[in-house]
Amino acid sequence: MPSPHSMHDDIEHVLISEPVLQARVATLAAAIQEDYAGRDLVLVGILRGGVMFMVDLVRHLDMPVEMDFMATSSYGNATESSGVVRILKDLDTSVDGRHLLIVEDIIDSGLTLRYLMENLANRNPASIAVCALLDKEKTQGDSVVQPEYIGFSIPDRFVVGYGLDYAQKYRNLPYIGVLKPSVYGGE
Ligand code: IMP
Ligand code: MG
Repeated sequence: MPSPHSMHDDIEHVLISEPVLQARVATLAAAIQEDYAGRDLVLVGILRGGVMFMVDLVRHLDMPVEMDFMATSSYGNATESSGVVRILKDLDTSVDGRHLLIVEDIIDSGLTLRYLMENLANRNPASIAVCALLDKEKTQGDSVVQPEYIGFSIPDRFVVGYGLDYAQKYRNLPYIGVLKPSVYGGE
């Protein structure tokens, strides 16, 4: 038998620990609950990266909400978003006249979210807002979307865990970590 390989061995360092993540999710949920009190709210989770965040977030919401999901893939180069997005799975819910909160794992260029917001705006919702767990710090003015709710601003490094993947792996890590460059073919 080969010796078991731990996912944790592939992590250079933990950027956001599990307790820090969970505390922040609870705080975001409290703000959302206050802002949307008495409104018809549909949470739109973006598959697959936004799933962990979405399910933890809703468990803190003591109000009636609906959960739905969309899956997208961006055309072209895998490491940089082209901004041209294909919808792989659409919402099952009609959003006409309803308040939408997009729940996303991370904003990098923001192009994916901008496309989604434009697409959803055509369906005549009462409002659209964005809740992103992570926002990558870029040079000023780079981000094309300003989320209403942000969990953490992080350095412009490739991160995994808590929904975020590298080659579809590491989504099940309970924290956000930076991958060792050796894992993706670096030195
Ligand atoms: P954007 O269109 O450039 O904002 O791309 C956002 C999408 O790229 C996210 O929804 C993630 O799926 C993916 N992504 C961006 N940065 C990272 C990262 O550091 N780790 C894992 N996935 C990432
Ligand atoms: Mg994503």
